[in-house]
This record gives sequence, C-alpha cells and structure tokens, in this order.
Amino acid sequence: MTLKFEQFDNQFGARIHGLHEDRIIGQQLVEELAAGLTEHGVLLMRGGEISPRRLVELGRAFGELEILPEPDKRHPDHPEIFDLTNVRKDGAVVDFEEPQAVFLRGTERWHTDSSFRKVPCLCTMLYAVEVPDAGGETQFANMYAALEQLPDDLRYVVNGKRLIHSYVYSRANNPGRMDPMSPEEEAKYPAVSHPWVRTHKDGRQSLYMGGHVSHVEGMDLDEGRELVEEVLVAATKSEFVYEHHWAENDLVIWDNRSTLHRLRPYEISARRRIMRRVTVAGVDPVR
Ligand code: SIN
Repeated sequence: MTLKFEQFDNQFGARIHGLHEDRIIGQQLVEELAAGLTEHGVLLMRGGEISPRRLVELGRAFGELEILPEPDKRHPDHPEIFDLTNVRKDGAVVDFEEPQAVFLRGTERWHTDSSFRKVPCLCTMLYAVEVPDAGGETQFANMYAALEQLPDDLRYVVNGKRLIHSYVYSRANNPGRMDPMSPEEEAKYPAVSHPWVRTHKDGRQSLYMGGHVSHVEGMDLDEGRELVEEVLVAATKSEFVYEHHWAENDLVIWDNRSTLHRLRPYEISARRRIMRRVTVAGVDPVR
C-alpha cells in the first residue's frame, strides 16, 4: 500500500496522502485509489497545482471519460474537461439570471452525476482553480448510510421501485431560463429507468436517486414526486453529509454510485469560482 487515506470525522470521506503531481499513475496506484474510493465515497487530494493534462490523465486511469452534454462548457484544449465557472469567456463574472449562472445554480440540487445515462458514471474529479472566500462549498451525502438508517416505512416503499431519470427533465427544471437544447441534442438523452435501491458488486446496497429524477415508474406523477422528496430529505440529514470547504488546488474525487452531492450557494455574480471537472464513465448498469 503506497497511498494513505486519512478518514474524515464522521466515517465518510478521506484525505489521500502520497499522490503527488509527478507520481506515475500505474496499475497498483489506480487499484489503491479505486479501493479507497469505494470504501470512503469521497477523496480529497490537497497540495500543489494539477495541470489540465494531468487531470485528464488521472481520470483516464480510472476509465473512459464522459463528454458532457453542454458543448460550450468544454475546456478549449481538453474536451473531456468540463469548465464549471462563473467567469465568462470575456473575463466578466456572470449575471445571476444568465444561462451560465442558471446552469451552475442547477447543481445546488442534490444529484448524482449522469444518472440520466443508461450506464451512469463511476466517479467525478473536481479540481479547484479559484474559489470564493465565502460560500461555494460542496456537500456530499452517503447513500449507504442513508439507506441503512431510512425509517422502516420509507424503506418498505422504496424497495423494488424504479426511478425515471431524465436530463431533458432536470435541465428544464433548472432555477431559471437556459438556452434551449436542439431536438437533435434532446434525442441523445432519452429518459432511463434505474432501481431506487442500488446493489453494488460487493453486495452492499445504497439509495440511488437525485436531481435528474423525473418520477417514480408506475406511480402517479405528483404522488411519486412527493415520495421522492420525502426520501431525499431523510437521506440528506446532516449525519450523512460531509461538507467540503475548498482551497485552491484541491482535487476531490467522489463515487457517484453511492453518494449525492450539491453545490452550496455563493455570490455567483460577484465572487469568482473556477473549477475543472472530469467524469469517469461507468461500466456496469445500475442493479
Ligand atoms: C457538480 O455538481 O458537478 C459540481 C459541484 C460543485 O461545483 O461544487
């Protein structure tokens, strides 16, 4: 074992030691990282600058990288990098109501990345280039613990149910107006159905839900949405949550199979927040 995982206080998330910038990413390292991610759910690497090339290299070591559905947010030299930034191409900070801000504010809802895909992603790596000095934290919720401690009546109702996840739906429900997607783009993202309780390779189970959920399969729309909201509130109680306070050059990796996350608000039209994100594609459908 060459990496060390220093666990955060509430038994969820850990800081990695030993992954410095020039370290060669070999098979053993990737296996250790993958095992650490499965065990802890969220990993923090804090230290020196990570170049866009190195970020892509780190992501690729885990698997294929997803290209996300918003072409205007791709990094100019590395299309696998998603630039999550409130700084426009002209260098000015966004206005609260403009589509770029609305898109970012959409990530303030609890979600798991790319759950709208048939095979959703494995993990996300988010690197902080510039962070605001107030707000803009990211919260993560542990869906293993949430399922384990879900009240019996809710556990009973979620068992065996499936949720419909849809990018077209979640994007349309962002908190404001976004540029419309073309019919060709929309057609690339048909709604998908995943079990609400996910069974992982090692047999453990977690909740699998979040902001891309449109409704509960086979249930009345409103009734289903109310149920989703009730379970979400129970699943994101503070005892299941780790809140990350960003420092520049932090890299946080999270397991999208077993966690939810959300951005905390900040003064989006006054304080700069520049993040780079890569998303590692999954290989297994949700079971
Ligand atoms: C995300 O939801 O992918 C990004 C969260 C963040 O910007 O903190």
